[in-house]
Amino acid sequence: MKAIGIVGSPRRNGNVDTLVQAVLDGAEEAGYQTTKYHLNDMRYSGCQACNYCKSHENCRLDDDLSGLLSAISNADAVVFGSPIYFFQFTGQFRLMVDRMYSLIDEEFKSRLSPGKKAVIVTSQGDPDPDAYDNVPREFAKALSLLGFEVIDTIKMVSGIAPDDVKGRGDLLEKAREAGRSL
Ligand SMILES: Cc1cc2nc3c(=O)[nH]c(=O)nc-3n(C[C@H](O)[C@H](O)[C@H](O)COP(=O)(O)O)c2cc1C
Repeated sequence: MKAIGIVGSPRRNGNVDTLVQAVLDGAEEAGYQTTKYHLNDMRYSGCQACNYCKSHENCRLDDDLSGLLSAISNADAVVFGSPIYFFQFTGQFRLMVDRMYSLIDEEFKSRLSPGKKAVIVTSQGDPDPDAYDNVPREFAKALSLLGFEVIDTIKMVSGIAPDDVKGRGDLLEKAREAGRSL
């Protein structure tokens, strides 16, 4: 079984990266092989609305995201992680989500094999845990269209310094537990 983690924060070892890694650590305990992708290290374009993917099985663009889209197709579980930037997931993350349009066919049916599981990880500076509830909730709708079962959402609040999450043992354990239950 394969689980991949996707980090949409530019901060390596930041709050999202650490929490995504904690979910992957739990997944390894459950027997998964894991790989982590840092979107900020990859060079890719946004969707060009060419609709090639509606008459072919894949996105026409050939860039660093091509391999990640294949990795999503081949994974049994995916950990999607992004901080909140200006009330939304980061640009790096949102460009990837647009390109995931290629994973649905011309009838808006998922091309992915059924039974994939997902965990969503977010981090924000705001201490109010409900401040951006709509962001993971709306992303979960896209994942549901793709046939993913979202088993948990891990949300870090008051994440200002990159290592603030290290003082949140409860959240790190919740993340590991989400990974174990994949
Ligand atoms: C450009 C930018 C925009 C941000 N916008 C918000 C925001 O709208 N709301 C919020 O609560 N935090 C906001 N933040 C703070 C980050 O969400 C927060 O620091 C988060 O914990 C960063 O996660 P990371 O450590 O994984 O990079 C913003 C940070 C940056 C750099």
